[in-house]
Amino acid sequence: MNAYEQLVAEAQGRPFAAIVAWPVEHSRSPALHGFWLRQQRIDGHYGRLPVEPRRAALEELVAFLKRTPNARGCNLTLPHKIEIMPLLDRIDPVAKRIGAVNTVVKLPDGTLEGRNTDGFGFLEALKYNAPHWTAASGPVLVLGAGGAARAVVASLIDEGVPELRLVNRTRQSAVDLGVAFTPADGRRIVVGSWHERSELLAGAALLVNTTSLGMKGQPALDIDLAPLPRQAAVYDIVYVPLETGLLAAARARGNRCVDGLGMLLHQGRPGFEAWFGRKVDVSVEQRRVVAADLGA
Ligand code: ATR
Repeated sequence: MNAYEQLVAEAQGRPFAAIVAWPVEHSRSPALHGFWLRQQRIDGHYGRLPVEPRRAALEELVAFLKRTPNARGCNLTLPHKIEIMPLLDRIDPVAKRIGAVNTVVKLPDGTLEGRNTDGFGFLEALKYNAPHWTAASGPVLVLGAGGAARAVVASLIDEGVPELRLVNRTRQSAVDLGVAFTPADGRRIVVGSWHERSELLAGAALLVNTTSLGMKGQPALDIDLAPLPRQAAVYDIVYVPLETGLLAAARARGNRCVDGLGMLLHQGRPGFEAWFGRKVDVSVEQRRVVAADLGA
């Protein structure tokens, strides 16, 4: 039985979606969507689909989603978020702007729409976990300029932050990101150098780490938080471990902290709602279940 046949067998005729990745074994998406399916008593399924990083394999995925009546769509993660785009019938404006798709929804006419819910998840988790933060609170420093940073920067600009500061080890990527997302209304994206990351914390209302530094198996993020105001929030989108060195240091000096698990949970909401027709929210219980699944 191949992976598609196995997924269809697991679904037993029920509506289903799946996480598509390569490798896919480590994904936590089945745990978070499985929680909502049980909580909402929806007779549906959310599985895993290993899909190789080849165009022909992605074409096979698209054909499978279209021809399988109870397939509602999928999530996509590394390394497919960009390569899937030309194969879909429609890309929604947010995904187009971010330049990546993490959610595919089969529309009633059977066509496939690509969406990106990472920026939504990022902001929702911030609003839940640091409710005192608003876009008007002040400048934001974002560390990193990779795929995750694009969603974070787009959502912060759309939310109305007055000044965004951006630093990345490879400075040119930050410059390119700044150029791509500078709004036409006069607000600025200030690009600094990686070695300036600490001094750029002065007067900031929010620090966001989008780099892989601090992740299990990666080097620690080395940053002196001294210039950061105590009322600022500190957000690390890394979720393995949940309490990174950055968050531990920020918590110790009294900053409000937001870990990466909230973003992971919230980014799942729009897809679930589109596939299974039920509005859902995150809860302490769901966080506990997915954190346990992470071994956190
Ligand atoms: P993602 O999709 O998770 O954002 P990515 O696109 O590979 O992953 O981006 C990883 C980010 O972590 C980049 O900003 C990267 O910096 P570079 O653009 O210079 O590669 C950053 N990063 C990874 N390892 C790093 C390190 N040792 N020091 C500083 N930044 C690092």
